[in-house]
Amino acid sequence: MASVPTQIALLTRAPGGADSTCDPDLPTAPWQFDAVPGQPLPAPTYGAGASRQDPVPADAPVQQQIPAQYRLLPADELDRRIRTARQTLGSRVTILGHAYQRDEIVQYADFVGDSFQLAQQSQQHPEAEFVVFCGVHFMAETADLLTTDDQPVILPNLAAGCSMADMADIDAVQACWEQLEAVYGTEPDADGRVPVIPVTYMNSAANLKGFCGEHGGIVCTSSNAREVLEWAFERGQRVLFFPDQHLGRNTAKAMGVDVADMPLWDPRKPRGGNSEESLRDARVVLWRGWCSVHQRFTVDQIAQARAKNPDVRVIVHPECPMEVVDAADEAGSTRYIQLAIDAAQPGEAFAVGTEINMVRRLADTRPDLTIECLDPVVCPCSTMYRIHPAYLAWVLESLVEGRVVNQVSVDPVVAGHARTAVERMLAVGA
Ligand code: 13P
Ligand code: SF4
Repeated sequence: MASVPTQIALLTRAPGGADSTCDPDLPTAPWQFDAVPGQPLPAPTYGAGASRQDPVPADAPVQQQIPAQYRLLPADELDRRIRTARQTLGSRVTILGHAYQRDEIVQYADFVGDSFQLAQQSQQHPEAEFVVFCGVHFMAETADLLTTDDQPVILPNLAAGCSMADMADIDAVQACWEQLEAVYGTEPDADGRVPVIPVTYMNSAANLKGFCGEHGGIVCTSSNAREVLEWAFERGQRVLFFPDQHLGRNTAKAMGVDVADMPLWDPRKPRGGNSEESLRDARVVLWRGWCSVHQRFTVDQIAQARAKNPDVRVIVHPECPMEVVDAADEAGSTRYIQLAIDAAQPGEAFAVGTEINMVRRLADTRPDLTIECLDPVVCPCSTMYRIHPAYLAWVLESLVEGRVVNQVSVDPVVAGHARTAVERMLAVGA
């Protein structure tokens, strides 16, 4: 099966095919969104793909346009130069790739996995002088927390952020915390459990991880959200979960928490839009955030997949809305989905509700199965999609020339507490 960019190029060239993609800009190169020296900054955008309509914070990292030679190189020449640079650097560099990256990038990764696995991997290569992280900004920040002080972490395109991570910022979380303290106080109950434990999804800025570390909280990923919530409920009467409402709701619901006891915190409203009473009764306070990739999946798509094949197994990621998770046969993290496909019997059919690059790759690795994306419209994660081979060639060749470009470093003021919260999560495991 063709890679996602190739598939998009084919679709958009076919008459009427453009309707099969979510964004007319998908076939164009990601540097159209980069800053050009001497020209006004481009309008902030996550780039083509699922997050295109999401508001971008004014201070989101901007990528300066890379040298023209990289933008002009044909795919086969980029491939040759990436391989040459990779070989020259040898064990001096480790390349990590998230499972949602395009094939054109994943092929160069030393390790491909979900955000939990990549956090573990970034800790396990002290021999590498540099870590090149082909994922998104919060993952590179986490890698910086876990690598040694003299190992720069490089993100090939600094504008590869995450629209969900940007839905919670430190000022809004701090304001929420103060309002919750006004309702709950700060005293533990008779069992020694504090009023509220902050839990941040890995998909958040380092200063939010720092907030959790400083306030007795923890980080989770989609592969250990349940174990992390159990950890939090042992220590607190309730949880403040940010930024993904869906992962928080789906996980807590599966643990038996009543949905009525999970008020939604809208950071734009006083007390998050809640009464004191509903906050007092809360078990989990859910931040109003979402992933624009996983929010696309619908109950209707599940009905259509079943109408096409009544035996189809529907598996969705827990970042999908609750109705979709409830209607699916199974819900699980990136790793869960990978393991389910690995263990499938020949001939089984799957409709998978997660990022299109991963679904396409799963289909390629198991031609004996029928694997389709639940969403018939091709729509990649906008920000993962901004990591194009041209940027990888540029960062690797810069390293060969002795220059570190696009380093992601966490402010030392927040790094200590952020590391504490991440290490608590790693200790809980997955
Ligand atoms: P995981 O890597 O934890 O499955 O998260 C999915 C995701 O959306 C990454 O940004
Ligand atoms: Fe963020 Fe969703 Fe993309 Fe993951 S898939 S990086 S949560 S926008």
